Amino acid sequence: MSKLFADAVVPQLGTHQPTHTFAAMVGWGMAVPEHVLSNSDLESILETTSEWIEGRTGILERHIVGPGECTSTLATTAGQQAIEQANIDPATIDAIVLATCTPDRPFPSTACTIQANLGLVNASAFDIVAACSGFVYGLNVATALISSGFANTILFIAADTFTNYVDRQDRKTAVLFGDGAGAVVLQKTAEPSGMITSVLGASGEDEHLMIVEAGGSRLPATPELLSQGCQYVMMNGREVFRLAVHTMSAVAIQALEQAQLSLDDIALIVPHQANLRIIDAVTKQLKLTKDRVFVNLQHYGNTSAASIPIALCDAAKQGLIRSGDYVLLVAFGGGMTWGASIIKW
Ligand code: UT7
Repeated sequence: MSKLFADAVVPQLGTHQPTHTFAAMVGWGMAVPEHVLSNSDLESILETTSEWIEGRTGILERHIVGPGECTSTLATTAGQQAIEQANIDPATIDAIVLATCTPDRPFPSTACTIQANLGLVNASAFDIVAACSGFVYGLNVATALISSGFANTILFIAADTFTNYVDRQDRKTAVLFGDGAGAVVLQKTAEPSGMITSVLGASGEDEHLMIVEAGGSRLPATPELLSQGCQYVMMNGREVFRLAVHTMSAVAIQALEQAQLSLDDIALIVPHQANLRIIDAVTKQLKLTKDRVFVNLQHYGNTSAASIPIALCDAAKQGLIRSGDYVLLVAFGGGMTWGASIIKW
């Protein structure tokens, strides 16, 4: 057990505060597969009940990829939407940053596939891995590329297709995840906008709590390992749950202190959507009322890195966030990784 977690203190690792140049979110989009898998569908496949899934997680249904769908296809659709909404010339996009831990292949990067799909010939392209914290981590990377002068316009996408990385016969994980993608176009501006402040952290000592053991250079996939299911996600759900609650609450407070803002200044809190009980516990620890914290996991399940941008899109569509509002994003996931960012919408 990491000392950091044991003390429930989040270090100020990798803090990032752009000072002069900001990266405004000028377009956004999302995509989920058409096929919906409900809790009652799962009842017929696994030893589980709709009541257990809803009661322990809050999830009612999730969208899952079918033939021909994968991380790049969802990411391409979300990216296209964000570009259209931003109403920019695609040729002006300098870079594509993709946050994913479920890439199409080990290499090349899935961002390169998206670059080809969208014809973004002037864009560099690369992936970053921070599991369920991927949107917050990637937002820091993309914002830093803009504030350092490397890029003026970035397509930042967070996409995961975890249903291809879980054993669909394992009730402990198969009921939790859905597939999806969310995207934002970030553009250089001098006005305070986009990510205002951010706190990131990680604890590699706890990597075993949520892990895919086989398929990398450490343990290449062999027929024997595949037959043991080592290519699938293994998770110590109870421990991850406990750490998620403490860490998300602590890092949210740290980001607020760093920005010299209070929770009253925040229009909406958008947490990673893993489990309604985690979100409710964080809401309680922060002494918030439930209406201040956005929840849409009932319809998507845990979409990993995509959950925050999908939630942002839904919240914007519902009129819950408006131009100029401060929004607090907070995430926790495999690695273990965590982060909180305050954005000005
Ligand atoms: O995205 C970031 C990373 N992931 C997370 O944040 C997930 C964090 N963890 C969780 O959300 C929860 O721990 C779970 C939803 C995964 C599990 O809920 P829990 O309340 O912690 O259940 P548990 O693992 O303590 O299991 C309780 C019981 C066990 O049975 P026994 O040993 O008490 O007889 C499990 O075998 O529930 C059983 N169980 C199920 N029963 C019916 C586990 N999964 C299921 C299932 N249906 N799908």
